[in-house]
Amino acid sequence: MSELNSTMKTIDQIRADFPILSREVNGKPLVYLDNGATTQKPQIVIDAISKYYEFENSNIHRGVHTLSQEATDAYEQARVKIQHFLNARYSHEIIFTSGTTGGINMIASSLSKSLNKGDEILITAMEHHSNIVPWQMICEEKEAILKVIPINQKGEITLEEYANLLTDKTRLVSFTHTSNTLGTINPTSEIIKMAKKHGALTLVDGAQAVTHGKLDVQEMDADFFVFSGHKLFGPTGTGILFGKEEILNTLPPYQGGGDMIKTVTFEKTTYNELPHKFEAGTPNIAGGIGLGVAIDYVQSVEFDFIQKQEKELLEYATQELLKIDGLKIIGEAANKTCVISFIVEGVHPFDLGTIVDKMGVAVRTGHHCTQPLMDFFEIPGTTRASFSFYNTIEEVDILVKALNRALGMLR
Ligand code: ALA
Repeated sequence: MSELNSTMKTIDQIRADFPILSREVNGKPLVYLDNGATTQKPQIVIDAISKYYEFENSNIHRGVHTLSQEATDAYEQARVKIQHFLNARYSHEIIFTSGTTGGINMIASSLSKSLNKGDEILITAMEHHSNIVPWQMICEEKEAILKVIPINQKGEITLEEYANLLTDKTRLVSFTHTSNTLGTINPTSEIIKMAKKHGALTLVDGAQAVTHGKLDVQEMDADFFVFSGHKLFGPTGTGILFGKEEILNTLPPYQGGGDMIKTVTFEKTTYNELPHKFEAGTPNIAGGIGLGVAIDYVQSVEFDFIQKQEKELLEYATQELLKIDGLKIIGEAANKTCVISFIVEGVHPFDLGTIVDKMGVAVRTGHHCTQPLMDFFEIPGTTRASFSFYNTIEEVDILVKALNRALGMLR
C-alpha cells in the first residue's frame, strides 16, 4: 500500500489521527469497515467541537457581542471552505442542512409547490430510501409520476434506457453519484447533460461520493448537490445542500422561522437573501465548524493519496473475498468505489455480521436502506464492507479470516 501521502504522513500516523481506531471491540482490535454508514472522526474535528463549546459558544447572526461575532465568523468561514471544496461559484449557494436526507427533503418540499399533475420525476433503481420516499410523497400529493431508471445485473444504469424515460414532462432527475450498496459510480455528467436537453432539473446525492474523490459542482453542472458531513469525517447532524443561485432564488423557503426573514408583520413576511432564506432557526453551529475542519483534514491528506489507497483496498479485498466458497459480490460495475456488498449461499447476512463483530470486525448487514435494490437482486440483504483510506491490507486479511471462521460455524 502507499505508505506516505504528500504531507509525509505514514499510514500509521494517519491512523493515529483517529483515536477510535486504536480501541478494542470484544477484546479484539477494532477493524472498522462500515465507512459507508459513517466515517470516523480525526482528533482535530473532535477538538474543534469541544473548543467551540468550551470557549466560543454563542448564537450566530444575532449578536453585537464578541462571542456572537466570533461564532458567526467561524461558521461563515466553514461555509466558504465548503464552497471551495465543491468549487461552487458563491458561498451563498452553500446551505447548511442536517444531512443528505435533510437536503433532499428541502428541495422536494420547495419544488412540490410548482409541481403539476402529470409532471415526471426520474430516479434510479439503486437509490437510497432518502432519494425515493420524499419524491413518492410529493408525487402522491401532486399526482405527478415517479419513474425509475433500471439497472443491469452488474448494478449499472444504461444511458439508452435512461434516454427512453426522459420526456418534456421530466421536471427533475434525482440520482445518486455513488451507490451506498453497490459502490457503483454513475456517469454523473452524462446524466445531467441528457436531463438538461429536456429542460429538467438535476439533483445529485453525493453522500457516498464526497469522501472518495474531488468533486466540482460547476464542472458537473448539477442544479443541486447534497451530502452529509458525517460521511466526510465530520460530525453527525450536519450536511450541505448546494444549489445554483438562480434556481434557489426562484424556490420558496422550506421552513419558516428566525434568520430566514427580512421583515415580519402579522400581515406579511419578506424573506432573507440566500443562504439564510433556507436556514430557519439556530443551526448546528459546532457541527458546521467541525465540518469545515474535517474538510481541512481531508485536503491535508489529499485525494490522490486517498484514491490510490482505496483502489488498492478495493482490488485486494475483491480478490480475497472471491476466494471464499459460495461468496457472491453484489455490485460489479466497471466503475465502482471501495464498497463491497456480498452474499454467501445459505447464510443470513445478519448472522455473519454478528459473528465477525465478536472478532472486532464492524461491517453493515441488511438492506442498506435500498429495499427496492434488494428486490431487484431477489435477496433479503447483503453483508457490506466499506473502506476508507485509513484501512489497511492487514485489516482485509482479518476480515477474510473472520468470515471464514464465521462460515465454519454457520455451515
Ligand atoms: N446510508 C448509510 C449507509 O449506507 C447509512 O450505511
